[in-house]
Amino acid sequence: MSLVSREQLIQMARRNLAHVKAGTVDQAADVYRVPAENYYDPDRGRLEVERIFKRLPLVLGFSAELAEPGAYRAMQVADVPVLLTRGTDGEVRAFLNVCSHRGAVVVAEGTGSARRFTCPYHGWSYDSDGGLVGVFRAQDFGEVDKSCLGLTALPVSERSGLIFGVLTPGISVDFDAFLGGYDEILAHLKLDACHLVGRQEVEGPNWKVAYDGYLDFYHLPVLHRNSFGPKMPCEALYDAWGPHQRVTMPNPHYIELEGKPEEEWESADLVAGVWTIFPHVSIADFEAGGKLFMVSQLFPGPSADESVTVQNFLSVLEPNEEREAANVEMMKFLERVVRDEDYFTGNRIQKALKTGAKSDVLFGKNEGGGQSFHRWVDALIQTGDEELPDLFARGIGV
Ligand code: FES
Repeated sequence: MSLVSREQLIQMARRNLAHVKAGTVDQAADVYRVPAENYYDPDRGRLEVERIFKRLPLVLGFSAELAEPGAYRAMQVADVPVLLTRGTDGEVRAFLNVCSHRGAVVVAEGTGSARRFTCPYHGWSYDSDGGLVGVFRAQDFGEVDKSCLGLTALPVSERSGLIFGVLTPGISVDFDAFLGGYDEILAHLKLDACHLVGRQEVEGPNWKVAYDGYLDFYHLPVLHRNSFGPKMPCEALYDAWGPHQRVTMPNPHYIELEGKPEEEWESADLVAGVWTIFPHVSIADFEAGGKLFMVSQLFPGPSADESVTVQNFLSVLEPNEEREAANVEMMKFLERVVRDEDYFTGNRIQKALKTGAKSDVLFGKNEGGGQSFHRWVDALIQTGDEELPDLFARGIGV
């Protein structure tokens, strides 16, 4: 973890402290309007999948679940079958999970450890580097050049305990430009040292209706009044690295940092808040069997009206029986809150907006995070492949 990134965390804490003392938060310049149809128009939905989810790095997995050489994870991501592996050389690789023979999905969804992956249709087999290593009755295919018939590789990069991958093979990707140093900040969460202790899925509305909620503290004491809301403030501070945003509340606890030498400021205090990774991830932490991160991955569903959220739970402490019980309880609570409060409301929003009752929805000056998110979505769907690196280099001025 670099000193520069720690210095950035300290600067953010200082800014937060100044707001606490002044009783203020930052405000966006104006109220921002998002056309209501952006949330349900099928053409817009398809464009977002093609230009955002199929072109940008997504968080596909975690170092914690591919800890050892031979570990793998197979999954569907936005209708794309993906296989992640850690090779014998320790490198993480990503592939389209599609057989070179006649296109069967090679590895069933799930996690495990394997040296070989054998296609269930006719038995061709692949190694963890994606190479074709076995052809059943090879003589029936004449001279087989196995070197040309491996699994199709996807761009991938493992950073700060997260495995980023792109769903389109052969696409040129600049992970550094996309992340803009944000991965170095995320390294302070130490996700690479965590243990994956659970995973569950929640179905929800359009992915942006769902994602808006992760950038919004305004709703916490109102929508969540019957769960955790009464203790929560509704004001938020945003810090941005390109499209990626950290959301924090003005933290009165930071008053205690005043007068303490900076080198004694604990990293655990400096990383409080919700860390989002554009376009689809939110990282929040809770106290259960020790510190428990909930990493939510949002993916568009089969129509513009649907999404699926994968809630991944990463524990700082090694699980034991007692901690596991506490973690399971917290997982159930978070599933209930997201399903019965956030997405219950989101699904009703989805139907309500489709009535045409409102031409636009509003993001207040206090909802700068949501404003920035929608500006980035708009900018990305209007940007051609060639201009993408330039867009990330110059930003969109918010
Ligand atoms: Fe995989 Fe035939 S489709 S072996």
